[in-house]
This record gives sequence, structure tokens and C-alpha cells, in this order.
Amino acid sequence: MKPIILDVDTGIDDMMAIAYAAHSPELRLLGLTTQFGNVSTEEATRNTLYVLEMLGREDVPVYAGASKPFARPEVLGHAKHVHGEDGLGGALGGAAPKGQVGSMTAAEFMVDQVRRMPGEVTIIAVGPLTNLALAVQADPEFVRLVGQVVIMGGAATVPGNVTPYAEANTHSDPEAADYVFRSGLSITMVGLDVTMKTLLPRTKLQEWRNKETKLAHFMADAADFYMNAYETWNPGIGGCALHDPLAVGIVIDPSFCRVETMPIEVDVEDGAPTLGRTHVSETSSRSSDIHVCIEVDADRFLDHFMSRAVQA
Ligand code: BDR
Ligand code: CA
Repeated sequence: MKPIILDVDTGIDDMMAIAYAAHSPELRLLGLTTQFGNVSTEEATRNTLYVLEMLGREDVPVYAGASKPFARPEVLGHAKHVHGEDGLGGALGGAAPKGQVGSMTAAEFMVDQVRRMPGEVTIIAVGPLTNLALAVQADPEFVRLVGQVVIMGGAATVPGNVTPYAEANTHSDPEAADYVFRSGLSITMVGLDVTMKTLLPRTKLQEWRNKETKLAHFMADAADFYMNAYETWNPGIGGCALHDPLAVGIVIDPSFCRVETMPIEVDVEDGAPTLGRTHVSETSSRSSDIHVCIEVDADRFLDHFMSRAVQA
């Protein structure tokens, strides 16, 4: 069992990633860490606690993290038009989770765990990279001690989704992404190059509705909202992208994606239209070698995800 920390900004596809990870025997969930992104940190934390309750996994601790970007005074914006006012497409229904967050911050928890298990901990970050940047900054040994880092974010060969250039997670905290990418961490980047090819088709929702469990209906309701948002910007797409679940998927089975190592850098010029863009460096002077997922076996991944995310 791989010990993992899943860093989330829960979010509908974050919720699917949590369910997928929680139901995967290959993974040992050390904890979930939260931060702003799709919603505020408070909302992401509430949603995360609630999803764990739905999954019957209250044993997994939750640590709240950054509520503002790494080097900016304020959050650039949330994505409630994509994930709903509650971040879960209305599926929360005003429910309040019973669980409490741990006393450490997200970054403190990351540092604590990699120090306890040198070289073993995998961090899967599927929101902006603020918590990860804070962990790197907090401990000079962090980069050496962490096992694997997989991020959902960026795009190397395709356009952005939140602007024509930038993907939402790298756009939400460009300086954090830049700092993390240049930190020397060995990073696998699960970006829009592969996640936009990894769709959950609307027809699959019926499989969840047929299960008649609370979790299955919760997932189907939230996914329905997410698909409607996808249809608004991508008419005829017929589903939604499984961004965050794919980052979990390649930790379970790296053969889901073909990876190429590239010098990737992040655009941080304030006010520029390209803010938050990730691109292959021409000079390499400010870049790191990142393992970029370039191709995905989308059908095989989808089957695997569907077999795990919602259990009977
Ligand atoms: C990413 O942005 C968020 O809206 C999703 O949860 C995902 O992590 C996709 O660009
Ligand atoms: Ca996310």
C-alpha cells in the first residue's frame, strides 16, 4: 500500500478523486489536506469532511491549509460556476459534517509525514500548489524526503481551460506553481493534455443511479451539475473531464499514461494574458524537468475509475 497525502480544493472532480482513492486498496490515505481553489478553504474543508463521512472514512484526518496564494495578497477567484455554490453542485444540500480538522496546517502535516517516512510518501496535489509550495519553503529537507509528487495542473501541448493559456490550478496560484516546479521535486504533471481526453460520459451516471446508495446518488447529482457546466463551454462534449481522478489513477497504475520529460516553466508576469500558463521552456534557464503525461489510455482508465469510485 502506497502511503499518500491527497491535497484537494474540493470541488466535484476532487470529490470523485477522494472516493476513487478511498476505495483503492493499493493506497493508504495518510490524510487529506485542503486549500482554496474551486471554493474557499473553509468550504473545501467542509466538503472534504462531508465526502469522507459519505464514504464512511472518518478515520482519515483532514488538515486545512492555505486560504490565500503563495505570493499574492488575495485569491484571484473561485470556480463556483463550474462546481456550484457549495462546490459540490448543490449535492451537499446544506449538510454540515460532524468531523473536525486536525491541529496542524496542511503544509505542517506534509512535512511531518515525509519526515516520519523518508522517501515513501506520495503527494497527489489536485488543487492550486500553495500548500505544496509552503511545505517546500518550510523545510529544506522536504524535497529530498518526499517520495513522489503527482499534480493535476497545467498543460504542455494544449490550450488552457480558465484562460486561453492557463489551466485553473496553475492560474489560481502561479507563483506557487513556479516555486514548486523549480524546487527540484520530481514531479509528474497530469495536465489538460491528458485530462481533457479522459471524459466521464453522461451515460455512465445511470450506473451510479442504479446502485441506489446515498453515495451513488450524491456522486451522480454532483457529476450532473459538472457535466452541465462542461456543456456550457464545450457544447456536445457529452460528459465531464476526470481531471483529479486521473492524478490518483496514475499513482495506482502508472501505465494509464505515457510520460515525456520536459523542461516546463510557469508564466508569472502579473497582468499578462498568459499568467499561470505552463509551457515547454525554450531556454531552460528557469525550468525544471517535469514528467508530463502526454497520452492516456482513457477507456481503460474510465473502466478502472468506474469500478472503484462508487462501491455497491
Ligand atoms: C482543475 O481545476 C479544478 O476546477 C478542478 O478541480 C481540477 O483540479 C482542472 O483544471
Ligand atoms: Ca481540484
